[in-house]
Amino acid sequence: MVNEFEIKKQICDIGKRIYNRGMVANNDGNISVKISDNEFLCTPTGVSKGFMTPEYICKVDAEGKVIQANPGFKPSSEIKMHMRVYKERPDVKSVVHAHPMYATAFAIAGIPLTQPIMPEAVIALGCVPIAKYGTPSTNEIPDAVSEYVQYFDAVLLENHGALTFSDSLLAAYNKMESVEFYAQLLYLSRQLGGPKELSDAQVQRLYEIRRQFGMTGKHPANLCPNNKEGKPSCHNCGSCGGKGDCATSGATEDLIKNITSKVIKELGL
Ligand code: 13P
Repeated sequence: MVNEFEIKKQICDIGKRIYNRGMVANNDGNISVKISDNEFLCTPTGVSKGFMTPEYICKVDAEGKVIQANPGFKPSSEIKMHMRVYKERPDVKSVVHAHPMYATAFAIAGIPLTQPIMPEAVIALGCVPIAKYGTPSTNEIPDAVSEYVQYFDAVLLENHGALTFSDSLLAAYNKMESVEFYAQLLYLSRQLGGPKELSDAQVQRLYEIRRQFGMTGKHPANLCPNNKEGKPSCHNCGSCGGKGDCATSGATEDLIKNITSKVIKELGL
């Protein structure tokens, strides 16, 4: 039997971490946890997620309708986005949304995180696509996220922020940290003349390690359709749309840039 009060305290702790690490400003960000098929705990709208106590936390059903909320508190304005992830990914137990500075800068610039630059990011995330822009609180964001939800555990939200989900609250939060660290390193290495990318063979070895560890969640190592067909996998082909057709225009642009820079390097120009 789940101890709801404990989970509420954990949500407050993660809210503090997100706030203290500068992953949100003001009242931004939201967190939810699935406690049964039709009960979810979520952060309230319009409060700083760094200063919550358990009484702030609301309970909603699978439609996002309030089951319990203390006076003065209403569920997150982005509850539809959380609920869509739970609906389409029954393995997910927690969803975290934040606006971490570097990841959000990539989301604003329209650049998905596709370059394989460090083992941890390749193993934990693979690559991180961008779900197309939607107006906050409407169904536009859930619809945009839905395109990627079967293939990834982390998505950038165009001109907005990042969304991560996993089989526990801590794991969903950790993915947010990984996304931001990856984005930060990618940004900094680009300032230093451009990252020296891991080779295709190195990426494949990391994907193999991930498979051997039996890591949960969705990841291009398992799901990239190109990989299944024995073609180069996501990191190499840029097919971050998860459809094998390079559906993400940003990813396609990145792919072209990657190939061009590889060709230039090969030719020694
Ligand atoms: P809420 O406070 O309503 O959860 O909204 C914060 C936010 O970041 C919206 O994108």
